[in-house]
Amino acid sequence: MATALRPMDKPQTGGGSSLSGKDVLSDLDLSVENLEAILHTAQAMKRAPKRFAKVLEGRYLALLFEKPSLRTRLTFELAIQQLGGDSVNYAGPIGDREPVKDVARNLERWVHGIVARVFAQSTVEELAQWAKVPVINALSDLYHPCQILADVLTLKEHFGRLGGLKLAFVGDGNNVANSLMLTAGRLGVHVAVATPESYQPDAAMVEKARETGAITVTPDPREALENADAVYTDVWTSMGQEAEAEQRTQLFAPYQVNAQLLAQAKPKAVFMHCLPAKRGQEVTDEVMECAQSVAFDQAENRLHAQKALLALLLK
Ligand code: CP
Ligand code: NVA
Repeated sequence: MATALRPMDKPQTGGGSSLSGKDVLSDLDLSVENLEAILHTAQAMKRAPKRFAKVLEGRYLALLFEKPSLRTRLTFELAIQQLGGDSVNYAGPIGDREPVKDVARNLERWVHGIVARVFAQSTVEELAQWAKVPVINALSDLYHPCQILADVLTLKEHFGRLGGLKLAFVGDGNNVANSLMLTAGRLGVHVAVATPESYQPDAAMVEKARETGAITVTPDPREALENADAVYTDVWTSMGQEAEAEQRTQLFAPYQVNAQLLAQAKPKAVFMHCLPAKRGQEVTDEVMECAQSVAFDQAENRLHAQKALLALLLK
């Protein structure tokens, strides 16, 4: 019996100018040129949303979530609606009831694109390998590229530029830290990551980010915050790591972003958080609520950045 070989007829990810039809599985699937186009388009969409109301007319997307979500799920749904398209949702494990490759070859018959939040990075990669339609990583154990699009948009709006800024990420060397190093780093932001020694981002990931950006990794939060324009934190225990929560809470205590630590950054530094925030752990209520916090601007910009991403991918 002949075995069906999957033709890889999708546009390849990585460099190149057009985003059309590509997968976005990691930050590096978006070239600097693509990132600049997304930022430009997002700003235009934010200014005049009605101009873009038919961009996805007649297009459908599948939103798959193995993990909980408020922002990502709702902003993707709204983004698709505001561009004139529609979406269907699935919440649950991917690959348990049937192989991931079969899920991919069902979905591609119904929709024009797949957005997937997964535990293992290999799940989005397998979906992309088997689906002819573009696949977007909506957070995996390794990356959160859609979050960082909103973050760099927020920084650009606030400071009017990205090149030359310093961003300190304090806490766990997790998916958000990886994506910040890879995306913000390539856009000229010096990313300084401060984590306990045993929770630093993976060495290979840091090396990769250093090929194209200024990256510092240190156990000392004060060193990271010195001269920083932005101070970013995220939960100490990411989704899927709940069994380690107690141990992490103790170890990460010196990395809490409180008023005293924030004062080590530049006086006009912004505070950033991808949310959800655990007040009293990685950030105090005082910092979350202070005038320097742009956390809800980041949340708003998830919508605009993802609208731009979808429009360029599904062109
Ligand atoms: N920041 C973010 O991705 O939030 P959700 O987990 O609510 O989607
Ligand atoms: N690092 C967090 C981000 C949540 C948006 C997690 O993976 O749970």
